Amino acid sequence: VTGEPSRTVLVLGATGKTGRQVVRHLRARGASVVAASRHPDVVPAAEAVAFDWYDPRSWSAVLESRRFDATYLVPPVRDPEPATVMLPFLRAAREAGVRRAVLLGAKPVPAGGPGIGRVAARLPELLPEWAVLRPSWFMQDFLGEHYLARMLGTRGALLTTSPGGRLAFIDTADVAAVATEALLRPEPPNTELILTGPEALTYTDVAAILSRVAGSDVRARTVDAPELVSELAATMPRALASLLVAADEALGRGGSDEVSDTVEQTTGHRPRTFEEFALAAWADGTLRIGREDDAGDPAPLDRSRST
Ligand SMILES: NC(=O)c1ccc[n+]([C@@H]2O[C@H](COP(=O)([O-])OP(=O)(O)OC[C@H]3O[C@@H](n4cnc5c(N)ncnc54)[C@H](OP(=O)(O)O)[C@@H]3O)[C@@H](O)[C@H]2O)c1
Repeated sequence: VTGEPSRTVLVLGATGKTGRQVVRHLRARGASVVAASRHPDVVPAAEAVAFDWYDPRSWSAVLESRRFDATYLVPPVRDPEPATVMLPFLRAAREAGVRRAVLLGAKPVPAGGPGIGRVAARLPELLPEWAVLRPSWFMQDFLGEHYLARMLGTRGALLTTSPGGRLAFIDTADVAAVATEALLRPEPPNTELILTGPEALTYTDVAAILSRVAGSDVRARTVDAPELVSELAATMPRALASLLVAADEALGRGGSDEVSDTVEQTTGHRPRTFEEFALAAWADGTLRIGREDDAGDPAPLDRSRST
């Protein structure tokens, strides 16, 4: 037999930033795909099913519907202890004949670390074939509802406690491309994959790129931790704001600037740069940049100014 064997893959988080693209790639490669989430109706052109991490009956319904070769695992979002639901699901998946799982983790959390690290640590003993993806922060955090996007959309500024901290942001398209390879390659990865974009940037670098792309004046502004917590706590629980600010402070201690070549090694193409991401997002209108006028009253930037 030559070429890729035909696979049946269950994609969890199929409406999300990476899952949606994984569904598309897998279909393009000829795999049979079942797209699962709590809102399955919004996945275009795929067989979609309802799946809720907190409803084990929804797992059995999916796992009994056919035999899956592999599954893409997006953890329950913002659950501090995802192992509670994910480990029982993985046992059920193994019993239903699933051989391979590709887990979406995060670069700062090693196997055995808190939260998703506890799932990563158990994966090798639960399934014979596995991969743990550990991507850096997503470039897409500057779009949508993420706090970075909200700061940018309302203030046109990026507030940070760590102006010298560097991060190799990664485009979710590159995460999805690696996930697809890890799901389909005949050889199981059976390893962790650290995924980053091509360059480690400070928020000052990011602000300069965004300014250039949007023809605006985006600033990176240094604030102290309590000020940043107050800013974030305006739109989220204070405990979550404190966690995010702790992550921002950690940037200043270094260690987040690692650049890996895993995307290129795995997919054969170089990862997207932040500038390429920003240009595309500005062109399609998903990147929003506000303006803080002198009275401190944020107003959205008139996109026509840059055209
Ligand atoms: N943002 C970053 O910079 C970054 C960096 C590294 C790693 N990560 C990791 O990436 C993961 C995904 O985060 P994201 O913000 O990008 O989210 P996302 O994948 O865009 O959205 C979450 C997905 O999970 C589904 N979902 C949510 N609650 C669910 C539930 N109870 N049962 C079943 N499905 C559920 C959602 O679909 P429905 O709402 O339709 O159910 C959606 O498809 C997180 O684990 C995060 O740690 C993020």
